[in-house]
Amino acid sequence: MEMEKIVSLCKRRGFLFQSSEIYGGLNGFWDYGPLGVELKRNVRDAWWHDMVTSHDELSIAPGAPASYEMTGLDCSIIMHPQVWKCSGHYDLFHDMKVECRETNDRYRFDQLRGRWVEGKGQRVFVSTVAETDLEQGDVQQRALKFFNLRAKDADRLQWHSEMISLLEAAALAPRTTEYSNKSSSTPSTTVEIYVSEPDMSKVLGPDAKQLGTLGEPREFNLMFESHSGAVRDDSSKVFLRPETAQGIFVNFKNVLDSTRVRVPFGIAQIGKSFRNEITPRNFTFRSREFEQMEIEFFCHPDSSREWYPYWRDRRFQWYTDLGLASDRLQLRDHAAEELSHYSTGTADIEYAFPFLPEGEFGELEGVAHRGDFDLRSHMEGKLDPNTNPLTVELDEHGKPRYRGSGRDLSYRDDLSGEKYLPHVIEPSAGADRAALAFLCEAYTEDEAPDEKGQMKTRTVMKFHPRIAPIKVAVLPLVKKDGMSEVARDIYRALKKHMVAFYDEKGAVGRRYRRQDEAGTPYCITIDGDTLKDNTVTVRDRNTLEQWRIKVDDCVEEITGRLK
Ligand code: GAP
Repeated sequence: MEMEKIVSLCKRRGFLFQSSEIYGGLNGFWDYGPLGVELKRNVRDAWWHDMVTSHDELSIAPGAPASYEMTGLDCSIIMHPQVWKCSGHYDLFHDMKVECRETNDRYRFDQLRGRWVEGKGQRVFVSTVAETDLEQGDVQQRALKFFNLRAKDADRLQWHSEMISLLEAAALAPRTTEYSNKSSSTPSTTVEIYVSEPDMSKVLGPDAKQLGTLGEPREFNLMFESHSGAVRDDSSKVFLRPETAQGIFVNFKNVLDSTRVRVPFGIAQIGKSFRNEITPRNFTFRSREFEQMEIEFFCHPDSSREWYPYWRDRRFQWYTDLGLASDRLQLRDHAAEELSHYSTGTADIEYAFPFLPEGEFGELEGVAHRGDFDLRSHMEGKLDPNTNPLTVELDEHGKPRYRGSGRDLSYRDDLSGEKYLPHVIEPSAGADRAALAFLCEAYTEDEAPDEKGQMKTRTVMKFHPRIAPIKVAVLPLVKKDGMSEVARDIYRALKKHMVAFYDEKGAVGRRYRRQDEAGTPYCITIDGDTLKDNTVTVRDRNTLEQWRIKVDDCVEEITGRLK
């Protein structure tokens, strides 16, 4: 319900529009409207400012093992195809897709409504949908709610007694493993779900009426393809980047050679990435075109274990500093079995988006220890992810499957003379997901007096002032008696320092409400007294407190409060 209200406000007030809406929209693509473009720009600017430009490389940041430098890059979206072969995306960046013969729809296999459960030597696809119940939509909904999670998320499942009885009804004594239920009052239980190769004849498609209409799961590479140049064949095939990170790795040597950075240092990049997601969903949360804010932090292999918690905690703090409430934000360290072979630690920073079931969180950012995997792959050739990370993948003739650049990407410390491949800590955030979390967090309904002084429900976007699209609105009480002229002068003075908005149309109470919905922290009102004593009223969006200041102090007052 709350999500519907947020989506409706986003459209009504110009935060977000469905892409190509007049042609029926394009699934997985979104346009930021006049308010949204400012919101997202503020997210990006805050990230770049806090992580890159305002970072003081001469001092040791709180919690950091040593001082370090930060620099930036802006790489092309289309890169040499070999980049994606050596990064592993060409072979491994896929989801499992299934198609339904009955509805012709395609689904991500891990999002099917139901799960394979193993116990007492049996393996059963558990769903609340019995063949006789197929018409009952609510039953399908319950199946979705209870089982629509990946096996790796099992420790975060909300277990319900209903599910346990379902398993019992299916004559399954579930394999036991202990975990606790963090988010509900249901006592912790001892059930584990297994996902394994399914017998598709027993699986009910999410929108199907009959069992067994889903095809076999197939790999589906998520990279968008295109062609570069006039010839359209395999030799001209290129890919839209699925992450900004690889641009940083392949430019590592360029940055070293063109600047005076020394390890440890970080390279930051903000830019568009593209993934042909099988089921884009949940507003902008899973889009096909989105923006990433990524840092590759290069450090000595011996100190990477200290840098990893530093970056994990620092990035978590960034979201809290910008107003995400601690009970909706969580830091989740991946279990050892979830880690890539080269990683000694990965954590997700997650937010309880209102479109998720109670107690579930969605990923805002991943902070990963990537070892030297990427630099080594681009140097020597694609590494074998299944074996020793230092083993290059070989083809059937014993030759490297994908050759690396052959360039020496190691770092030589000019003081100690030591030569090594740095290890990498990667905080990888999504600008759109962050903007969405700030939108969800800001959405508030409270009671406030309307223009007649009567208490009414108001919708107010309580953005942190740094994130708010408009910082101040200037509102003459009426359009006559010279109030507009004074108001315009104040507006012009403020506009030089921040995003300001001028509005003289309609009752002032209604104008306040519009600014509340836009999340504008301050309104300045010019009234009859302004013409007498040269003062204006300032109104605080959150507290509704009002106070008077001199016209000449407007810029100083608002800039001071925004800090
Ligand atoms: N270089 C590592 C990397 O790309 P990822 O977890 O696949 O890691 C990082 O992506 C972040 O990018 C995610 O935490 C999320 O914020 C954002 N992101 C990933 N896929 C997305 C999608 N389809 N739509 C919107 N944001 C996405």
